[in-house]
Amino acid sequence: MARPLGIINSTFAERKRDCMNILAFESSCDETAAAVVQDGRRVLSSVIASSADMHAVYGGVVPEIASRKHVEAISGLADEALRQAALSKQDIDAVAVTYAPGLIGALLVGVSFAKSAAFGLGVPLIPVHHVRGHIAANYIAHPDLEPPFLCLCVSGGTTAMVDVKDYTHFEVLGGTRDDAAGECFDKTARVLGLGYPGGGPMDRMAQGGDDKAFVFPRAHVADHPLDMSFSGLKTAVINTIHNARQKGEELDLHDLAASFAAAVSDSLVPRVMEADRLTGYHKIAVAGGVAANSRIRADLERACAQAGAKLWLPPLALCGDNAAMIGSQGYYEYLAGHTAGWELNAKASLDISRG
Ligand code: KG4
Repeated sequence: MARPLGIINSTFAERKRDCMNILAFESSCDETAAAVVQDGRRVLSSVIASSADMHAVYGGVVPEIASRKHVEAISGLADEALRQAALSKQDIDAVAVTYAPGLIGALLVGVSFAKSAAFGLGVPLIPVHHVRGHIAANYIAHPDLEPPFLCLCVSGGTTAMVDVKDYTHFEVLGGTRDDAAGECFDKTARVLGLGYPGGGPMDRMAQGGDDKAFVFPRAHVADHPLDMSFSGLKTAVINTIHNARQKGEELDLHDLAASFAAAVSDSLVPRVMEADRLTGYHKIAVAGGVAANSRIRADLERACAQAGAKLWLPPLALCGDNAAMIGSQGYYEYLAGHTAGWELNAKASLDISRG
């Protein structure tokens, strides 16, 4: 039962507002989030409830727990997002929601809630690809950033270099063939007993460590210079930890974490610069939770300064999952006519170019 766009537009026009307020939801993994975003770039409110603590004891996200916590949190977060934005339900012009990719049960909570909210409010429903949302976090932080540009997307589930041709037109130029960089951080942290998610603690542990103390592999994918592989690095660092434990040797964990971060960064940064050379944009943005990593940020800053490329780094608060980024991307999807009917379903995986 798709809603004809004409009716949606007349509803929006009838309200006689010269700005568009989008109520947005994100629930693809272990963060439940709601936000109100005006005209794609102005965040009126952004609230997040994380179930990460509950997953920490298991060393990774337990999908059923994540879904249950989303159900518990989402309604209250929607109210809180409206309250903090100082808006009423009648001020909302559209509802945007992450519908792919992610944990299917978790996504379904957000999609179902967003559908009922859009239906109840009589406004359009806008489906948003999660990684497109991560890229859009940069629009919120950087008013001057406009496509085209190159974006390094690095999170717990994605590691890819994306050519952002315009707001809703994307091409993946290269990416990991196996593990995402964030997963590599998380698995290593789990073996070290640092909890979940492990990227932040690993980053802190790397401070002051010797990044040359351990020699970890930097993989190359034959004939695909922009592709990467992290599974060998993950195995190498975990084997190093296990071997030391079996021999009763003490490892310097600061050196280990610094050497590991250097290996991840060396796998990413030169490829980003090569992709920038190929596109000729000389405009580079970074997106996703791993964009918070201090070594990767510092290496990118140095490489971009050397190459004369402009770099946009999202503030740490916008690196992880949030709904403001979904509201931002949702605005541009709406302008491109990408609204959904009530048959909208969640998808566990979906290429960003098709989202
Ligand atoms: O974007 P995000 O919140 O969720 C996904 O969409 O995956 O990213 C979460 C990932 C986790 O793997 C987490 O360990 C990693 O981002 N992360 C970091 C840092 N902060 C978070 N990885 C490396 N260094 C950090 N400082």
